[in-house]
Amino acid sequence: MTDQYAVIGNPIGHTKSPLIHMSFAGETGQDITYTAIEGPLGGFAAAVDAFRAGGGRGLNITAPFKLDAFAYATDLRERARLAGAVNAMKFEDGPEGGPEGGRVIADNFDGVGLVNDIQRNLDSPLAGKRVLLLGAGGAARGAILPILEQKPAELVIANRTLSKAQALESQFSAHGRLSGTDYAALTGGRSGRFDVVLNATSASLRGELPPVDTAAFAADGLAYELVYGKGLTPFLRLAQGVGVRRLADGVGMLVEQAAEAFAWWRGIRPDTRPVIERLTVPLI
Ligand code: ATR
Repeated sequence: MTDQYAVIGNPIGHTKSPLIHMSFAGETGQDITYTAIEGPLGGFAAAVDAFRAGGGRGLNITAPFKLDAFAYATDLRERARLAGAVNAMKFEDGPEGGPEGGRVIADNFDGVGLVNDIQRNLDSPLAGKRVLLLGAGGAARGAILPILEQKPAELVIANRTLSKAQALESQFSAHGRLSGTDYAALTGGRSGRFDVVLNATSASLRGELPPVDTAAFAADGLAYELVYGKGLTPFLRLAQGVGVRRLADGVGMLVEQAAEAFAWWRGIRPDTRPVIERLTVPLI
């Protein structure tokens, strides 16, 4: 039987995941289906149970269910545990061959997708670099461990609510050199310039600008917006205005996290370039 996969979220109408995964399947010759499920709010577990009972082998999880997926999993991989959220699950059969009693292994590929996009596609190695991460919510949290694994000179997390940035600093302090600050600490170049500035706040979803001082950007650096498909967001426009050489949105991150999940499920790694090219919208 054709193996079934899906993405579950609410709303789910605009998801690109089926297109991405079916492109990967075509390219690698894998016989799968990949659909989109609109999970009812408050009904995540029942929707996943039904998908598994119908033969589902794996799921991607998007907003607002990443914490529900965390609770649903029986086996959390370290990245998901530290991120506090799950974006991919793999289902193993139970003793009787069905989902009953089967393990649910859960991971989070968002951060590794981001890092792969920055380093492979945008050719910006993070080792030895000064990295500034804006935001301390779910998106930022998922990025921290994969960034620290690349051994940047320093990771600074800036957040409007200082206490959240400080909490992340203490939670991840055993994994590398990082600090949590507020935006005021970045003004006038007091914290120096950063080679890579990542916007992991949700500000761009509302057309808002996080209050980052332009003195934080290095002109020969990279400004990266984790949101995708919004064109030149206020953050990217700010970076462009101070002459930052490279600007990117999160389309590459989206495709790279999908490739990680696909490789995990199917044991074969797809080429991400053609899909990224197809989905890239010029930043204007
Ligand atoms: P997500 O899962 O997308 O990260 P979240 O967990 O609600 O969403 O976190 C949103 C993040 O964006 C937070 O860091 C938030 O800052 P606060 O913790 O101070 O609320 C940040 N954020 C949202 N709008 C912002 C804005 N206009 N300027 C700066 N930061 C903003």
